[in-house]
Amino acid sequence: MSRWLLAALALWAVSGGDSLPACNYPPRLLCSSWKIAVACQVEKQCTNFYHRPQAADPVSLSLYYESLCPACRGFLVTQLFPTWVMLNDIMNITLVPYGNAQEKNVSGKWQFECQHGEPECKGNMIETCLMYQLKDFDRFFPVIFCMESAGSVVENLAACLQVYAPATQLAEITACVTGDLGNKLMHHNAQLTDALNPPHNYVPWILVNGKHTDALQERAQSALFKMVCEMYTGEKPDACKDGGAESQFL
Ligand SMILES: *[C@@H]1O[C@H](CO)[C@@H](O)[C@H](O)[C@H]1NC(C)=O
Ligand SMILES: *[C@@H]1O[C@H](CO)[C@@H](O)[C@H](O)[C@H]1NC(C)=O
Repeated sequence: MSRWLLAALALWAVSGGDSLPACNYPPRLLCSSWKIAVACQVEKQCTNFYHRPQAADPVSLSLYYESLCPACRGFLVTQLFPTWVMLNDIMNITLVPYGNAQEKNVSGKWQFECQHGEPECKGNMIETCLMYQLKDFDRFFPVIFCMESAGSVVENLAACLQVYAPATQLAEITACVTGDLGNKLMHHNAQLTDALNPPHNYVPWILVNGKHTDALQERAQSALFKMVCEMYTGEKPDACKDGGAESQFL
């Protein structure tokens, strides 16, 4: 799938994120699913026909990664982001950019060394600051996806902000990246990464519902969309029911 198509998809997802789904169903179908009933605002009228499904816990996925590792970028851009676009209702994603970095306490300030050098440390820091300052996953993930899918991860921050988070001030992010705030936030990422059990021995390192196994990791990297659909214990969203969606998008 091309980067441009993904970007368009992201834009569509973001712009559509706030609006209600459209009610373009014939009357005979209005009570045929809870989702349609909500879209058409006839939940009350439909309760006799349809019981609201029990909400289930979202499938949680934690990604421990570093900004320039090719396999990390590949997973984020070709699996995680497109799956999230389709299944964000039933997923809870945590990103921890740090990976195989090392830290040292140099007179009270943390110094970081990254596997792919200084640019990777900068990329990790930018993404960490984006998460802190944009707060909502829906707001920062498209920016991080945009950076990771671009030719140069760190050079594209301004362009990616302009497209995906135009209200955000570049200066605010830069201040975090170069200041004490970013330093503290990255130390926290180091602590989270060092606390992994079992400890990570490669990146990307994936936890599914808090657990890491080789099998879960392999499945996530090869067929994340299917895995999330299968693991979700609540009523499957339409994207999961429509077998075509997966082959079309992934
Ligand atoms: C998502 O995961 C975070 C971190 O693990 C957790 O604090 C939060 O409660 C989870 N949210 C949902 C809706 O499960
Ligand atoms: C870092 O080093 C400073 C002094 O160089 C020390 O005061 C501080 O306690 C150290 N912090 C940690 C977490 O080790």
